[in-house]
Amino acid sequence: MPALTVHHIGYLVKKLDKAIQTFHSLGYETEQDTVYDKFRKVNICFLIKDGCRVELVSPVSEDSVVSGLMKKYKNCPYHICYETADFEADYAALTADGFLAIDTPTPAPALGGREVVFLNSPVIGMIELIR
Ligand code: NI
Repeated sequence: MPALTVHHIGYLVKKLDKAIQTFHSLGYETEQDTVYDKFRKVNICFLIKDGCRVELVSPVSEDSVVSGLMKKYKNCPYHICYETADFEADYAALTADGFLAIDTPTPAPALGGREVVFLNSPVIGMIELIR
């Protein structure tokens, strides 16, 4: 069984500035100001409350990786991201367990350039794994 640690909950939002204000009104604090992710064409802001980190993801253009999701689901949490002590082993364990890679490990500017990969489970939907 993979040994994963929750890093953040990815939250899709259309209006980033208003979403930040609303999360602030719920008691979240900005952990990291907005960073543009050129690989995915999204703006990303990290907020935190009670040790729970939320990643606000907002599409910047029509061809961003989340534009389709935004049309389908509107504003909503859509993935949980995990850190792993042994990426290769856990990645292999997850794919053996039915998770399908959606992309290949790609740098995440909002995470200091660390690589992330998204996987989809037919049972629980999308997760993200930090390399
Ligand atoms: Ni994420």
